[in-house]
Amino acid sequence: MAKTNYFQPQIILGIETSCDETAAAVVQKDGERVKILSNIVASSAEIHAKYGGIIPEQAAREQLKSIIPVINEALIQSNLCPPSPKKHLLSSTIYRPAIDAIAVTYGPGLIGSLLVGVETAKTLALVWKKPLIPVNHLLGHFYANWITDTHLPGVKAHLEGVPKFPLIGLLVSGGHTDLVLMKDHGKYEYLGGTRDDAAGEAFDKTARLMGLPYPGGPQISRLAEKGDPSAFKLPRPMMTTDDFDFSFSGLKTAVGNIVKAIDIQNPNSMADLAASVEEAIADVLVKKTITAALKFNIKQIIVAGGVAANKKLRQKLGEEVKTQLSRGDLFFPPPSLCTDNAAYIATSALYHYKPIESLSVQANPGLTLFRK
Ligand SMILES: Nc1ncnc2c1ncn2[C@@H]1O[C@H](COP(=O)(O)OP(=O)(O)OP(=O)(O)O)[C@@H](O)[C@H]1O
Ligand SMILES: [Mg+2]
Repeated sequence: MAKTNYFQPQIILGIETSCDETAAAVVQKDGERVKILSNIVASSAEIHAKYGGIIPEQAAREQLKSIIPVINEALIQSNLCPPSPKKHLLSSTIYRPAIDAIAVTYGPGLIGSLLVGVETAKTLALVWKKPLIPVNHLLGHFYANWITDTHLPGVKAHLEGVPKFPLIGLLVSGGHTDLVLMKDHGKYEYLGGTRDDAAGEAFDKTARLMGLPYPGGPQISRLAEKGDPSAFKLPRPMMTTDDFDFSFSGLKTAVGNIVKAIDIQNPNSMADLAASVEEAIADVLVKKTITAALKFNIKQIIVAGGVAANKKLRQKLGEEVKTQLSRGDLFFPPPSLCTDNAAYIATSALYHYKPIESLSVQANPGLTLFRK
């Protein structure tokens, strides 16, 4: 990365409200180590669970209710605030936290949810006279791999240190499946992505067809532990195509047909189907990621997003990295940092600070990894 002489923030308050999680966290950089000082996540997932998916208006309303208490709690738990009063920091006119900057997710996501975080962050940046760093949520997901120390005493995220460039990044979240070649912080090449459903969406939609609650990924993963992954022959679309794109919608159709043909009250059939679905998704993700690493002669792979918590994906990719990439290194964030949180948003901001006018930051629901 080009050396800069200007101010580099070391302690950042991150704010994340792209979907149904309201999150705030404080992280601190010390050399190559990044430590979480606090990490608060309030989720409205339970409210959406009964509808089988997220209701955007409801998600935005819950964001409004949670944003101030969540930021307040993140500041209190970071221990950066004065010893007292420790209750309502944000209502004090004299309080200014000992942070260097504020980071906020500005897209992609649900517009109502994003606006809550972005406008709150802009207001705090103005009141506290702190720089504001807008973060692309998708790029942010990857930065869970740069967190070395959690806020839990003695619990380290990455004992082996941080990923080294160049690397292949696989993002597998609820709404996205993307492969990138990262050459440095802020310097990456987009290789490909899903043409229809994302990997997380494939888990969620097949789980729904199987009568399992939302979010479906953890449900399928739990059921799969007792199942036979070769029990059902499921498609692996685009697995061997000469590009880095993905397609998961065919899987949903195939599972829909199987569900009609089997007894879904039978726990063994359900476990076998769950294991077969998990295996099919993992096979495609592993194949494309390893192919990208071999094509560009890259030894380091990082994985991010909610599906990165999946045990089968971790195991299969681990095996392939060992056998196919000599001296290859594989990074997964700890499972609790894979799904949405503000710790990785703040961590990403540690490496992407640029002086900008805070009021120029605008929520951008359609942001992608193509445009930075
Ligand atoms: N253990 C698991 N196995 C498989 N999938 C999982 C697991 N845990 C979570 N998921 C999936 O991860 C997804 C949620 O991840 P994440 O929070 O990163 O997505 P998102 O924020 O909704 O989407 P995006 O980041 O694309 O906007 C859900 O689809 C969920 O089913
Ligand atoms: Mg996300």
